[in-house]
Amino acid sequence: MLPFLYVLTIVAGSCCVSGQVLYPPQYTNTRIVGGEEASEGVAPYQISLQGAASGQHSCGGAIIDERWIITAAHCTRGKQATSFRVLAGTQDLQQNATKYYYPDRIVEHCNYEPRKYRNDIALLHLNESIVFDNATQPVELDHEPLVPGSRLLLTGWGTLSLGGEVPARLQSLEVKYVPFEQCRAAHDNSTRVDIGHVCTFNDKGRGACHGDSGGPLVHNGRLVALVNWGMPCARGYPDAHASIAYYHDFIRTHLSLSETESAEGTPEEMKVLRSRRHYS
Ligand SMILES: *[C@@H]1O[C@H](CO)[C@@H](O)[C@H](O)[C@H]1NC(C)=O
Ligand SMILES: *[C@@H]1O[C@H](CO)[C@@H](O)[C@H](O)[C@H]1NC(C)=O
Ligand SMILES: *[C@@H]1O[C@H](CO)[C@@H](O)[C@H](O)[C@H]1NC(C)=O
Ligand SMILES: *[C@@H]1O[C@H](CO)[C@@H](O)[C@H](O)[C@H]1NC(C)=O
Repeated sequence: MLPFLYVLTIVAGSCCVSGQVLYPPQYTNTRIVGGEEASEGVAPYQISLQGAASGQHSCGGAIIDERWIITAAHCTRGKQATSFRVLAGTQDLQQNATKYYYPDRIVEHCNYEPRKYRNDIALLHLNESIVFDNATQPVELDHEPLVPGSRLLLTGWGTLSLGGEVPARLQSLEVKYVPFEQCRAAHDNSTRVDIGHVCTFNDKGRGACHGDSGGPLVHNGRLVALVNWGMPCARGYPDAHASIAYYHDFIRTHLSLSETESAEGTPEEMKVLRSRRHYS
């Protein structure tokens, strides 16, 4: 747990809020506290983002397309696409016979502001298509506005307490949506909570902690948010996550651009496609 202590040291020196330590997303890995072992097959979109060389779990994420993973930008910041591997299709980090996928491109939100906790969202493009089966599936994106009290499913591999052990089995926790104004007020009206965030709350003692940054929150089977930041750990403050509805254009733009690229092929074909598009 040394890296974890190191994190706390850095944070304490750089951003104390009312004497409380806040995890800046650039250093944090959030994990679930007070959850339970996820039932089999509950989150086939869940991935574990790992170091390609170390094989260590670092962040969560979700499959949104056969070639695309979505996660938090603080999970990928300053790293090469090739420094990662993606584990899909299992809820057990120690399972040996599992397929890994390899990113060849990272698309970080161009307005990601680590210090202001804004636009903390990134896409990972894979060098080959994910093979879908009953344990490996993409998740649909949600664009519907949430209502106060909406119940979301948070999943991730995380320390089960502050500074605790990393579980092998995926954990899950039901959390409630907290509207923006209420969430900001709970954080002393801090501008770190902004309209691009979806906030959630369970009880004091239940919530995100280290290790599941970038991990998915799902409502009625659709992806609504990705874990961004919180007060460590589960101390009674709402956690803040990147809103999928808010970043919908960012996501769609990059996914459809990449479809266009692969469809266009040679310049000659491109011309034809362009002129067709012109008349359609
Ligand atoms: C997937 O299907 C296989 C058999 O077809 C079954 O053994 C396995 O438990 C299923 N996995 C999930 C996550 O549903
Ligand atoms: C995976 O392999 C490791 C090391 O060889 C072993 O300790 C572990 O029990 C295996 N896990 C499973 C689920 O077979
Ligand atoms: C994807 O990248 C990995 C790791 O660099 C490599 O082993 C694999 O062959 C690549 N797959 C394809 C289809 O290029
Ligand atoms: C936050 O702002 C609201 C509305 O402007 C105000 O009523 C409330 O007292 C503020 N809370 C704190 C902790 O500053």
